[in-house]
Amino acid sequence: MENNKILEINNLSVEFLSDGSVVRAVNGVSFSLKKGETLGIVGESGSGKSVTLNTILRLTESPSAVMRGEILYNGRDIFRMRKSELFKIRGKEITMIFQEPMTSLNPVLKIGGQIAETIYLHEHVGKEEANNRVLELLKQVELPNAGKRMDDYPHQLSGGMRQRVMIAMALACKPQILLADEPTTALDVTIQAQILALLRKLKREYDMSMILVTHDMGVIAEIAERVIVFYGGCVAEDAPTLELFNNPLHPYTRKLFGCIPRIDTQPNRLSVIEGNVPDPARLPEGCLFHPRCDRAAGRCRKEVPPLSEISPGHFAACHFSVH
Ligand SMILES: Nc1ncnc2c1ncn2[C@@H]1O[C@H](COP(=O)(O)OP(=O)(O)OP(=O)(O)O)[C@@H](O)[C@H]1O
Ligand code: SF4
Ligand SMILES: [Mg+2]
Repeated sequence: MENNKILEINNLSVEFLSDGSVVRAVNGVSFSLKKGETLGIVGESGSGKSVTLNTILRLTESPSAVMRGEILYNGRDIFRMRKSELFKIRGKEITMIFQEPMTSLNPVLKIGGQIAETIYLHEHVGKEEANNRVLELLKQVELPNAGKRMDDYPHQLSGGMRQRVMIAMALACKPQILLADEPTTALDVTIQAQILALLRKLKREYDMSMILVTHDMGVIAEIAERVIVFYGGCVAEDAPTLELFNNPLHPYTRKLFGCIPRIDTQPNRLSVIEGNVPDPARLPEGCLFHPRCDRAAGRCRKEVPPLSEISPGHFAACHFSVH
């Protein structure tokens, strides 16, 4: 493993046994995250983005879930870690923020106390030190009136403020990796922009690596250095952001962009593509995209296209993406 890769995911599959059928949510995904990098993940609803992110922290583990592959964090496989090791990493070295902060905040605890709990869980610090750190964190996430707001309950805050609190909680123990699953989707546009600017600033200050899942190509263009396009629980394309916008190779990515995209004229939302996303309980044979692909040929219905490096650092999984 190259030592600048803080996270390396190799051939990850996640299946859920549900009502007698097998839901193949993630199907052989491989990608890596470099130290200090911001990686964007895009793809339609149901393409396995959240399951992939949650599986990095083994949050998908359950008796009905089957997981295969490797998730190497600094070279160590998270799947092989004992629970005690995993709990040291989860919430401390690798942390996560979600779309709707209300679901992750405890409604009956004051926000300052909740952030302090996170610190106590991972570090031996006294009450005063923890409180000072909470205040410092709330100032860093630019929560207005931080000193007073510490004693508020989550319902007393606006959506944007709650997301700031979630970010403070995620940063409480200085993580190496921040996983952000659509952290701005539930917020209005002005607040979205503020939260993204904040994430970008904090990522630099904390010298973190970040994976950001979003539907918004504008967000990707602004914040991500590399983009991974998910389709049917697989990686369809993986490229540096500018390269992907200027030269999308996979027919699915091209459809996502609507036509030949340019980074400065991109509409923000993904365009709607004709046809349905594949049902993970009944995936088609061959290339998962063939029922919706204008370029599909006989081979596409039988052979799964491997993810191949078409030009340096630019990967696509299409039989015809070689120029
Ligand atoms: N615990 C589970 N049991 C059964 N199926 C599941 C489970 N969790 C997720 N799935 C299924 O796995 C697929 C991938 O879900 P996932 O949440 O990763 O999609 P997503 O790309 O994050 O979509 P969205 O953009 O809507 O958030 C979906 O079909 C979903 O219904
Ligand atoms: S492999 Fe075939 S069906 Fe799949 S994206 Fe490429 S051309 Fe389309
Ligand atoms: Mg999701």
